[in-house]
Amino acid sequence: MLKQNMQTHVAIITGANSGVGFGIAQRLLDYSSKNPSFRIRVVLACRNATRASVAREELIKEYPESLVDVVIVDLSSIDSVFKCCKEIKEKYDRIDLLFCNAGILSCDYLDWWGAFYLGLTSPVRLLTESKVVVQPIGNKTRDGLGETFACNVFGHYVMIRQLEDLMSISGDARIIWTSSSASSKDYYNFADYQCIEGNNPYESSKYITDIIAIALNTRLNQRHIYSFTTHPGVVATNIVGDHLGWVMDKLMRVGFHLGRICGLREETITAWNGSYSNFIVATLPIERLDKSLKYGSCVKPWGTVYYDENFVDYHEKDATALLNQLDRLLENFSQK
Ligand SMILES: NC(=O)c1ccc[n+]([C@@H]2O[C@H](COP(=O)([O-])OP(=O)(O)OC[C@H]3O[C@@H](n4cnc5c(N)ncnc54)[C@H](OP(=O)(O)O)[C@@H]3O)[C@@H](O)[C@H]2O)c1
Repeated sequence: MLKQNMQTHVAIITGANSGVGFGIAQRLLDYSSKNPSFRIRVVLACRNATRASVAREELIKEYPESLVDVVIVDLSSIDSVFKCCKEIKEKYDRIDLLFCNAGILSCDYLDWWGAFYLGLTSPVRLLTESKVVVQPIGNKTRDGLGETFACNVFGHYVMIRQLEDLMSISGDARIIWTSSSASSKDYYNFADYQCIEGNNPYESSKYITDIIAIALNTRLNQRHIYSFTTHPGVVATNIVGDHLGWVMDKLMRVGFHLGRICGLREETITAWNGSYSNFIVATLPIERLDKSLKYGSCVKPWGTVYYDENFVDYHEKDATALLNQLDRLLENFSQK
């Protein structure tokens, strides 16, 4: 458990207006409402002010005594990340939890034939991988970065580097990345680490997430900042649902429930379930956690949620090289 004292802990959650990020906020506030010695202020770091404000109101309605703030950040814009971090540094005197959760899965088109074939040959893969979404190649942000890499990885990396000093005040601060079980080294290439030319930038970005999350410990543990990677299982959220349309979204949910009944343990489906691994990593005593593993949310067929621990294909030398590359990239932006 995080150190319990009369101080109010501060938790920043990116992408907290919906899906897993919203689930993380609910779980922290729920935990705080049941443990009066654990006071928490949840900061929703979102790109859209209206959606963030709606989420804040919902949380306050559900947990009336809670402390919920909003900061605006667009992770695809490094300038926006700098501004958001400046605001955070002005507003708060500590950070205990930083959830690097926001993410995108861009869609070029939906491969219905491929999905149909997969449904016949490997329904498990259909229900656990987002293979129906064919991702575009070469999408870039206005800053000229690989779009998925910027939103899922680099924007968060910049946040961490900007907020490191505030986190070191806590004495047990945790950076918790929402990765994915779809994370795959197969799509990662150091020469094109932003995956601008390669296929499947989402899977590549999540592999980078895993290795960066682990590698950061070498640097940050001496400052009592600990970094972890997690995955939420398969959750019916906007990340895929937005691409599918209403009917297919509903069918997808039915498929997830069928998969769960048949024993697919990653079919967590709800954001509350999906956020369990994030919550566990945020609240278990640090000595009970292994920073080299990926904590995943899972469910029993009847819906009881639990977590498991997953191996990460991690190589210190490669991860350090990547970390240094991210530092050089950040340096370029800092000098602008
Ligand atoms: N759902 C799953 O089955 C699943 C599986 C594995 C991993 N994950 C991971 O879980 C995390 C959360 O996704 P989700 O499933 O909860 O989907 P979601 O409901 O779509 O949530 C994604 C969040 O990220 C925000 N976001 C996207 N781009 C952003 C940007 N440039 N700047 C700031 N915020 C941005 C979105 O904001 P808007 O609302 O403004 O778009 C939204 O709040 C992601 O990292 C995803 O890769 C999800």
